[in-house]
Amino acid sequence: MILIAGAKGAVASTLAVAAQTLRKAPASVLDSLTTAGRFQGLLQPEAVYTAGWDVMEAPLSAAVAHHGVLPTEIRDCLRAELDQVPLAAPPPAGSPIEDQVRRLLADIETFRTAFPGARPVLVNLLPACESTGLAGCQDPGERAMTRAAAKCPDLAYGLAAVRAGVPVVNFTPNELEIPRVVAEARDRGVPICGRDGKTGQTFFKVVLASAFKARRLRVDGWYSLNILGNADGANLMDPCRAAGKYSNKTQLLDEILEYPVGEAYGVPTHKVHIDYYPPRGDAKEAWDVIDFKGLFGLPMSLRLNLQGRDSILAAPMALDLARWMTALQAAGRSGLVPELGFYFKKAVGPNAPVTFQDQLQALDGLARECSPSEA
Ligand SMILES: NC(=O)c1ccc[n+]([C@@H]2O[C@H](COP(=O)([O-])OP(=O)(O)OC[C@H]3O[C@@H](n4cnc5c(N)ncnc54)[C@H](O)[C@@H]3O)[C@@H](O)[C@H]2O)c1
Repeated sequence: MILIAGAKGAVASTLAVAAQTLRKAPASVLDSLTTAGRFQGLLQPEAVYTAGWDVMEAPLSAAVAHHGVLPTEIRDCLRAELDQVPLAAPPPAGSPIEDQVRRLLADIETFRTAFPGARPVLVNLLPACESTGLAGCQDPGERAMTRAAAKCPDLAYGLAAVRAGVPVVNFTPNELEIPRVVAEARDRGVPICGRDGKTGQTFFKVVLASAFKARRLRVDGWYSLNILGNADGANLMDPCRAAGKYSNKTQLLDEILEYPVGEAYGVPTHKVHIDYYPPRGDAKEAWDVIDFKGLFGLPMSLRLNLQGRDSILAAPMALDLARWMTALQAAGRSGLVPELGFYFKKAVGPNAPVTFQDQLQALDGLARECSPSEA
């Protein structure tokens, strides 16, 4: 059972449609999952249900239509099922964090009753928010936590999930995995993974950067531009909310290449821009111009144009991550899971794999940890 914070957003509502479709026509969804064929003894591919929270009052089927991600022929036949998905209103913003957590714990119990025997996983799909300033803080008091939760409601959802023994997938760029949440997760045997789903431009950046490195071609500069017209794009026009996203999109290139791109110029020449462009809706477009050098330092250049679909790329990854977390919890894993770096722009936890090859290898290692006989 996937419990979704932000259940009526573009990614979340696409995920709800994917879960419904999985039960009716499994192959059409399983074909898009990187975990298809894994965890066969443990997970029934079709038995995926969603529930969750959103501030939006419109029915889920109306939210699906509003985002315009899916054509009518895919969504219309699921209208009745979508509107039966159990959903709750979020706890009042600004109330003491422990009150919010209590309220969310009661909701989780209600969702558990609706699907007895299901193994819940929280998938965080709330909007990008400002930094809470608690990332390095070992033990913030209740007042600091309440102030932080006013900016970043993700914290209340994360704490409630951990206390309910529910694994957490943080698909957002938000700092949910603060030391206090991670410590509680370790104590209670709950795995957590994040941060910031690596769905489109950044996924291809990791693949290409790993290839440049393996081929000993020196990257001299990398210019990346994104246009997107969904609510996430509008939200990211606020520089405070976009700061985490920019940092996650930028840092990883130097980490993969193991040198600062632009060092010859004394300024970073890896540039990332995000622009809200309403005509495109969820159909995101990205351009990359990569300047690189070969033998004798002679310059060459590569251009990449991705015409993607944000939520269509993201939803199966969220589903994959929920499946990993169920399997990892069953295998006794708790705390951060950096080995899931394949799915994230900024994998949290020690020694997260950075190149594409290492990320794939880390997944194989995790699969062996989950089910030695299948790996
Ligand atoms: N689409 C992608 O490819 C992608 C990639 C990486 C990360 N992400 C991240 O995933 C998240 C979701 O993206 P999206 O495009 O679905 O965004 P969205 O804005 O469409 O969805 C967010 C949802 O959260 C709801 N919400 C707001 N505050 C809430 C609260 N306190 N409690 C419950 N619900 C609340 C909103 O009403 C909305 O329905 C964002 O943080 C985005 O940055 C998306």
